[in-house]
Amino acid sequence: MSSSAAPTLLLCSETDDLSGLRGAFEAAAAQACPGVQVVCWTPQTPAAVLDQVVAVAGWFVPVGLPARLPRLRLLASIGAGVEHLLRDPGLPSDLPVTRIVDPAQARGMAEYVLWAALHFHRDLDRVMARQAHRQWRMPAQRPAAAYRVGVMGLGAMGAEVARTLAAHGFDVHGWTRRPQSLPGVTCWAGDDALRPFLAGLDMVVSLLPLTPQTRGLFDADWFAALRPGAVFVNCGRGEQLVEPALLDALRRGHLRAAVLDVFEHEPLPADSPLWGEPGVLVTPHMASAASDEAIAGQIVGDTARVLAGQPPLHAVDRQRGY
Ligand code: GLV
Repeated sequence: MSSSAAPTLLLCSETDDLSGLRGAFEAAAAQACPGVQVVCWTPQTPAAVLDQVVAVAGWFVPVGLPARLPRLRLLASIGAGVEHLLRDPGLPSDLPVTRIVDPAQARGMAEYVLWAALHFHRDLDRVMARQAHRQWRMPAQRPAAAYRVGVMGLGAMGAEVARTLAAHGFDVHGWTRRPQSLPGVTCWAGDDALRPFLAGLDMVVSLLPLTPQTRGLFDADWFAALRPGAVFVNCGRGEQLVEPALLDALRRGHLRAAVLDVFEHEPLPADSPLWGEPGVLVTPHMASAASDEAIAGQIVGDTARVLAGQPPLHAVDRQRGY
């Protein structure tokens, strides 16, 4: 039973059922925010409960809802991305928006990308294709240092990915919008550096957030800037990819392969051409996920901070969008 008088943390999504997170949030609240109750939003949640909401933990929160919560102090994404929250043009201007920053999630992402880099660097795609024809042919062996991987986006996850690849001996390059440095990684920054960065890569991995600047970024011009035979790995957002441009680059043989973990429409519809496209590896948005406990612990911790008048620890820059 929810009490309409208690300060409330609202689990809220119009696309996903978040009730599975409730236990972890209740356990975290009992520790760090005693007195705060956890409620799962439905379109029928009574106004008396909404009036007591101090924090929303969400994924595609209904547009307009945050502006109708008079006590709201925190809007928290239950994932690393926040574009699904920032799409609401009516967010109160001083409302902090946070995203999940989880070292275990970053390590999961690094494992996924390391697997992809090893797969193509060691020519496993070619070896597997030959197995179908019972062909015994040893590929040439090169050192990892001869395989150049570019990571677009060096935030918490991109930096862990780049460090992990570098630790395994790959020639790692990173691209960010603003200058950044990372030991063992050749860093490039800004729009002018994008083409020279792309031109030298054997594999490009995107971990970019979805913003107005990155929506539709991977278009025909972008693929043309890659060297022939490059591999594209998308772990950012599906909306960044112009699908016909990818299919064209693959079918012309310009692109060796694409590893796609994110899609504009998820689950990927059964009739999507990507499922059966030679050279495309589809994975179900599985590259990495934070645990329920990590999500709940961080968001409840930030809730305790805002209720104590302190800024949350995981706020994004709302203007930049990440
Ligand atoms: C997943 O895509 C996330 O934003 O954490």
